[in-house]
Amino acid sequence: MKILVVCLGNICRSPLAEGILKSKLPEGFVIDSAGTISLHEGENPDKRATSIAKKHGIDISKQRSRPITTEDFEYFDRIYCMDLSVLEDVISLAKNDEQRAKVSLFLEEAGIEGNNYEVFDPYWSEMDGFEKVYQLLDDASEAIKIKLTSNS
Ligand code: 4NP
Repeated sequence: MKILVVCLGNICRSPLAEGILKSKLPEGFVIDSAGTISLHEGENPDKRATSIAKKHGIDISKQRSRPITTEDFEYFDRIYCMDLSVLEDVISLAKNDEQRAKVSLFLEEAGIEGNNYEVFDPYWSEMDGFEKVYQLLDDASEAIKIKLTSNS
């Protein structure tokens, strides 16, 4: 199973989700992340995201931001979006119903309703915002792991 997680800049939320999912899911899963904008293309994750991940034992420092491409809709089986605006932009890039069916909200897949199933953008917040986002992504990744690895 191949999973792509998508946020706006691919320097805060989706790199964290990529790192957390990689730490939880067994061999055989391919996990990558991307952004809907190319503003930060080629950059490593935001230092605050790297620092929160490191605090929890996960190294995301070598990831590089990249924008989502039309090929991603063919290669990946699931495309998880961090908020409604990202979801709308990602769906607008899908070519057909089969591709659209791959796209969903990360928190909806995890069954964590919260604030409209949205992972808030911590970019403009302090470290406490990054810690909250980390915890939310960790809870969601655990639920997604159970969902994707159970045989039922
Ligand atoms: P992300 O956060 O979508 O979680 O990576 C952001 C990163 C950069 C910007 C906004 C959000 N930006 O406006 O540059």
